Amino acid sequence: MPITREFIENGPWKPDLFRGKVVFVTGGAGTICRGQTEAMVLLGANAAIVGRNVEKTEKAAREIEQLRSGAKVVACSGTDVRDVHSLAKAVEKTVQELGRIDFVIAGAAGNFLSDFNHLSSNAFKTVVSIDLLGSYNTAKACFEQLRKNKGSILFVSATLHYYGIPFQLHVGAAKAGVDALSNALAVELGPLGIRSNCIAPGWIEGTEGFDRLMGGNLKRKVPLQRYGKVEDIAQSTIYLFSPAADYVTGTIQVVDGAVWHVGSFIGDDVYPVRIIAANNEPIGKL
Ligand code: COA
Repeated sequence: MPITREFIENGPWKPDLFRGKVVFVTGGAGTICRGQTEAMVLLGANAAIVGRNVEKTEKAAREIEQLRSGAKVVACSGTDVRDVHSLAKAVEKTVQELGRIDFVIAGAAGNFLSDFNHLSSNAFKTVVSIDLLGSYNTAKACFEQLRKNKGSILFVSATLHYYGIPFQLHVGAAKAGVDALSNALAVELGPLGIRSNCIAPGWIEGTEGFDRLMGGNLKRKVPLQRYGKVEDIAQSTIYLFSPAADYVTGTIQVVDGAVWHVGSFIGDDVYPVRIIAANNEPIGKL
């Protein structure tokens, strides 16, 4: 579900909370990061969304811009977060067109299911390069703007590295690194007035990851008895960028209805680990 005007009409936030501010979002055409961008734009910010796919990124920018009269959303398409120079150009374009960057969401991610036995070294490197190196590159490319504007950065992490989730070891390793990166940046950049936090979404309905990873009805396993919504992530994002979180840095905000506290959710119905191990089959064949 996209974020609509109801987000501000029914929500606790002042409609012009981010007026005059600019948010730079990698992965901004994807489901979760698009929701975060939409919420920021609805609350007064202008935005730049960064993506590899030209058509998808341009289309998303035009659509997000419609959410608020006068909003400007720049599409930095054809940008690969694995390439810091490509990101530097996106930052340059954003500053040229929107004047500044105050907030950064490092959300671009790559994922696929693969068991260790069938995960090539290049496949592992690809995901770590997008998720972890891409997050580093984003912080690096935006640093001067963050310093100038005493800005704030938010990394989109996960909870799957809190325990050993099979077929996701590449993503888990990358996201563990993202958490470490954010924590260290909070300490190093705190004296410059820059805040750094992570948001760790749980089972968010309507996302590619949810559709790919979830099988069966697992709602009852979530202590809050429902799946998450894109809006839940957007609300936490607004909080972490708002003045209400002025003293909040170096944190990992888990938004998952407490499901990770329940422990590993994997059952034979969702991840047939034992079948894979016994047959030595790549998971794509099941
Ligand atoms: N299982 C195992 N290995 C896989 C794989 C899968 N499903 N998909 C890709 N790989 C491997 C490739 O075989 C290749 O390794 P190799 O050279 O040893 O053969 C390596 O990963 C790189 O693949 P490639 O397709 O060249 O990378 P890319 O940079 O074009 O794309 C992704 C990488 C992650 C973006 C791509 O796999 C993808 O589109 N994933 C689904 C979309 C997605 O990630 N959305 C974000 C959701 S959070």
